[in-house]
Amino acid sequence: MAQERTLSIIKPDAVAKNVIGEIESRFEKAGLRIVAMKMVQLSQEKAEGFYAEHKERPFFKDLVEFMTSGPVVVQVLEGENAILANRDLMGATNPKEADAGTIRADFADSIDANAVHGSDSAASAEREVSYFFSAEEICAR
Ligand code: TYD
Ligand code: MG
Repeated sequence: MAQERTLSIIKPDAVAKNVIGEIESRFEKAGLRIVAMKMVQLSQEKAEGFYAEHKERPFFKDLVEFMTSGPVVVQVLEGENAILANRDLMGATNPKEADAGTIRADFADSIDANAVHGSDSAASAEREVSYFFSAEEICAR
């Protein structure tokens, strides 16, 4: 029983589509618990720092522009194998390749506006959770 925490972001495209609740509901139905949550408008600096690992990639500038184009909802999900469980719920980065029934298959329009972010490893989950939340903001259960 590996209880983990992972960072999830509902991106500006999904917020604009008014599907925050539908996405949160999928986490809950899968048994993941929301233990921290906030809606924020990312600054360019905050978005660049978050995606620092991609800074040399050709899509970096567009990615930062997209992530700052409107508010996002950032949450910490907790549960058994939460990191992989969330990635499974999300589906592939490119929604055209995402399995039917995944969040990206259902709500994303393109690889660059793909509805959600999820940490991809234990190391990135730890970094990303603390990038957005202090210890007091996480309500462990
Ligand atoms: P990545 O970490 O590879 O994907 P994931 O979000 O599934 O972990 O890339 C981060 C984000 O960068 C991705 O969600 C959307 C954007 N991106 C592009 O716009 N074009 C691309 O070719 C790739 C690989 C990513
Ligand atoms: Mg990634």
